[in-house]
Amino acid sequence: MTFGTAFAMTYLWIKAAHLIFVIFWIAGLFMLPRYYIYHQESAPGSDEERRWIDRERKLRSIILTPAMIAVWVFGLILAYTIGAWTMGWFHLKFLLVIGLTGYHGYMVAYGKRLARGERPVTGKALRLMNEVPGIATAIIVVLVIVKPF
Ligand code: HEM
Repeated sequence: MTFGTAFAMTYLWIKAAHLIFVIFWIAGLFMLPRYYIYHQESAPGSDEERRWIDRERKLRSIILTPAMIAVWVFGLILAYTIGAWTMGWFHLKFLLVIGLTGYHGYMVAYGKRLARGERPVTGKALRLMNEVPGIATAIIVVLVIVKPF
């Protein structure tokens, strides 16, 4: 195997790892606000509420946060390898990914407030916010696959 082939293979393995963790991360982002919607419908202080608090904490610490870190690590390696910083599609993708990371941070903080008995926004607002990761994913996939600019 030449150096060039080995290098290309490594790039593909890293890209595969990137995508595996993208799926875990986005799946978690789809689930978390859903959990919050059900959580908010349970009576404060009830056993049901305690179960939601536990499920949410596990989803955040076992899936969401580790997956987000892995997506960033593998994504940045890919970006350095191909010098993505000068590419138009990457600028917009990077902006959207920073937005998704902010959304992630907001949702993690939201869960901690819920666990303290607060109900910061309505179920309807949570349902609307739940659309954000789907829309961002659709735009990001078009950017990385079609590379329209
Ligand atoms: C966290 C920061 C991220 C960085 C720095 C990053 C960077 C990159 C780079 C440089 C590539 C290689 C593109 C190529 O080989 O042409 C890539 C591939 C890809 N990324 Fe990301 N990414 C990030 C997050 C995400 C997220 C959140 C998603 C989806 C929601 C995503 C979806 C994809 C897809 C689908 C590919 C495969 C494209 C192909 O087949 O060539 N990435 N990423």
